[in-house]
Amino acid sequence: MAFPAEPFRIKVVEPLKRVTPAERIRLLEQAGYNVFKLPSDSIYIDLLTDSGTSAMSDRQWAALMIGDEAYAGSRNFYRFQSTVRSIFGYEHVIPTHQGRMAENLLFGAVVKEGDIVPNNIHFDTTRANVEHQKAEAVDLVVREGLEPSHVAPFKGNMDVERLDHTLARHKGRVPLVLLTITNNSGGGQPVSVANARATAEVCRKHKVPLFFDACRFAENAYFVQQREPGYANKPVKDIAREMFSYGQGCTMSAKKDGLVNIGGFLAMNDGAWAEKVTQMLILVEGFPTYGGLASRDLEAMAQGLEEVLDEDYLSFRVGQVRDLADTLHAAGVPTVRPPGGHAVYLDARAFAPHIPPAEFPGQAIVVALYRDFGIRAVEIGSLMFGHADPATGVEAAPALELVRLAIPRRVYTSAHLRFVAESVIQIHRERESLRGLRIRHAAPYLRHFTADLEEVPPKPVHAG
Ligand code: F0G
Repeated sequence: MAFPAEPFRIKVVEPLKRVTPAERIRLLEQAGYNVFKLPSDSIYIDLLTDSGTSAMSDRQWAALMIGDEAYAGSRNFYRFQSTVRSIFGYEHVIPTHQGRMAENLLFGAVVKEGDIVPNNIHFDTTRANVEHQKAEAVDLVVREGLEPSHVAPFKGNMDVERLDHTLARHKGRVPLVLLTITNNSGGGQPVSVANARATAEVCRKHKVPLFFDACRFAENAYFVQQREPGYANKPVKDIAREMFSYGQGCTMSAKKDGLVNIGGFLAMNDGAWAEKVTQMLILVEGFPTYGGLASRDLEAMAQGLEEVLDEDYLSFRVGQVRDLADTLHAAGVPTVRPPGGHAVYLDARAFAPHIPPAEFPGQAIVVALYRDFGIRAVEIGSLMFGHADPATGVEAAPALELVRLAIPRRVYTSAHLRFVAESVIQIHRERESLRGLRIRHAAPYLRHFTADLEEVPPKPVHAG
C-alpha cells in the first residue's frame, strides 16, 4: 500500500448526485465561468477547499450536545482555552468565527497605514486584510518555494536574509512578521522548525513580534517529523509546541486543522494587544467567551484540535494527498513537487503554456474539470492574485499560476480520488483544446470570489 488505509470507518453517509454534462455547461455559463457561483448540488467531487469541509468525528458531534450556551463564562470556553494553551502555548485565547476575523482584529489593532507586513506567502484573505489597513503585504518565501518542480523538503520556509534586509530597510514600519504553516499559496509546503527559529532570531534582532498563521499546523508538524533531522522520534504535538514557542502569537482558522465546519481564534502573549483586540471583538463578534460562535462550536473545536494531532490520522491524510499527486506526476501532469499537505497543486503555466497569464490558464483548467467531470477545483494564480495596473490597465501576474485540488479532511475515499486522477490526466491529454478567459466584471478586493468571466473566442487562423 502506498499509504495507510483510513484510520476510521463510515457511520453517516451523504449521497452525491451527478448532473448531466449539458446541465453543467448551462450552469457554468450562468455562473460566469466562476466555480464559486455554482450550486454545490451540481458538483460530484468538491475540491474547492479543505476549509470548513471536514467530516467531524462521532466525538465532535457528541461534543455539540454538551454545549453550554451561556452568554458569558461557558464551560466549553474553558476547555477550549486550556486545549489551545496546551498546544499553542499562548496565554490569551480569543475565539473568532473564522480565520479572517482573527486577521482582521489583529491587523486592525496593530497595523497602520504605510506599514509593511512580511510573510512567507500571504493567503488571499490575509493579504486583503493587510491591504485593508492601507499597509503593504510582502511575500518573502525562499526562492525554491516559487519553483514548482524544484524538490526540497521545506519549500514554505521564510527567506531569512531577505527578511533581515526588509526589517532593516523599513525600521519602525513593520508591526509584525507572519509565518504561514503550511504555506497554502505556495503549494501547501511546510516550514521547518529550524527556519521558524531563524525567523524568530531575525525578528528578535529587529524587535518585531512573530505571529504564525497556524491553519494547517498539524500537517506542518507531521512533515517536520517525517523530514527534519532530529524530529523523527518526537510526537507531532511536541513539534507543534516547539514551533509555536518561537512566536508571540497566532491566527488560526480551525476550519482546517481544527476539523470543524466553522471556528477560529487568535492567541497571543502580549496583554496590551490582547486587550485592544478584545475591545473590538466585543463590538463586531461577541463576548470574549464565545467570539461569534455558539459555545457548542468551541467544544467541537477543542475536540478537533486534539484529534488532528493523532499520527495515524496525519499519516493517512498526508499519504492520501501524496498518492493523488504521485499518480498525476507519473502520468506527466505538471504539479508542484513535492506534494503539500492539504492539496495537490497543478502548475497551470506548464500545463497550458498556450494560454497567457492574462487569460487565466489556471481558470481554464478549473472550467474544464467541472464541465467534463463535475469536479470543482480552485485557481490560485492571476485571477486570485493578479491585478490590473491602475495607469495602464495591464494585468500584473503573480509568480505562480496554480490550480489547487484541495482535499477535505476525512471526506473522500481513495476511489473518489482515483476518479479525480483519471479526470485530470484526461484533461491534460487534451490540453491544447483548453481556452483562455477574460473578465467581464470584477470587484476591487478578492475578485476571484465574485468575478464574471467569459471564454476568449478562438483566434482567427490566417492562411499563408
Ligand atoms: N490563512 C490561510 C493560510 C488560509 O488558507 C485561510 C483560508 C485563512 C487564513 C483564512 O481563514 O477562511 O477561516 O477565514 N483558506 C481557505 C482556503 C479559505 O480555501 O484555503 P478563514
